[in-house]
Amino acid sequence: TSTYETILVETRGRVGWITLNRPEALNALNTQVMHDIVAAASEFDADERIGAIVLTGSERAFAAGADIKEMEAKSGLDMVMSDHFGGWARFAAVRTPVIAAVSGYALGGGCELAMMCDLIIAADTAKFGQPEINLGVIPGMGGSQRLVRAVGYYKAADLVLTGRMMDAAEAERAGLVSRVVPAADLLEEAGKAADTIASKSLPSLYAAKAALDVALESTLAEGIRFERHVFAGLFDTADQKEGMAAFREKRAPDFTNR
Ligand code: CAA
Repeated sequence: TSTYETILVETRGRVGWITLNRPEALNALNTQVMHDIVAAASEFDADERIGAIVLTGSERAFAAGADIKEMEAKSGLDMVMSDHFGGWARFAAVRTPVIAAVSGYALGGGCELAMMCDLIIAADTAKFGQPEINLGVIPGMGGSQRLVRAVGYYKAADLVLTGRMMDAAEAERAGLVSRVVPAADLLEEAGKAADTIASKSLPSLYAAKAALDVALESTLAEGIRFERHVFAGLFDTADQKEGMAAFREKRAPDFTNR
């Protein structure tokens, strides 16, 4: 794998790990971080040996938001012309399942980045929020939309309009996080979940993620039509035959991603 300026990247078995590495700025997301994460995730996405990605930060911060110092002087037109956060769409479109392993602050763009992932596994020390309103702006990386879908209108409005933080327990009750684990176990637990996901057949993982995405973006009828089509398509894979034969023969499946 390539080396990057603002992140650390490593492969462990079938799992690609991306660790945000701007400790001096609590992993604030500047343009370089966006380019680095998109490039690293795309590289993993193009590698058939990778079945899951873990995205994490430091113990103190997953990411404290978009980089305020980078944005401060810009005009509205600058933000539009540069499509300041536009690159993140490529990260949200990664086919491979992505687990956000969140410890400490996941604020603003940090919370929004976690919401572009498929699982959010949080340390009991995690703090989530959309504090942009305190800066005279609003969420800009999808937060006003994804948070409503994740936790419903009233909890989202509470967070977006007051700018307050919520702890891991509240975030779990609200449905923003998949699991809360003790801070000391975060990376191990995220790694185990990633290993489990990465042991499956890639075509079925891609299909499952695509179907879950459609659920957030479509009507029920449209989503069910999509699911039926994609479900049927998987019956033309060798891995469907292998998975069902393994069940019948009471053994573990040996998937080949075909
Ligand atoms: N952008 C740029 N720098 C940041 C930053 C950010 N979002 N968050 C923290 N930093 C920097 C601080 O400026 C500080 O740098 P210096 O030492 O050079 O002053 C360093 O990281 C450490 O931060 P603090 O000293 O503030 O640490 P703390 O423990 O006292 O406070 C905190 C932690 C409560 C998270 C606080 O840093 C904070 O409120 N950060 C900003 C949170 C925020 O508003 N996020 C939203 C950003 S806007 C956005 O994300 C738009 C969008 O929707 C995409």
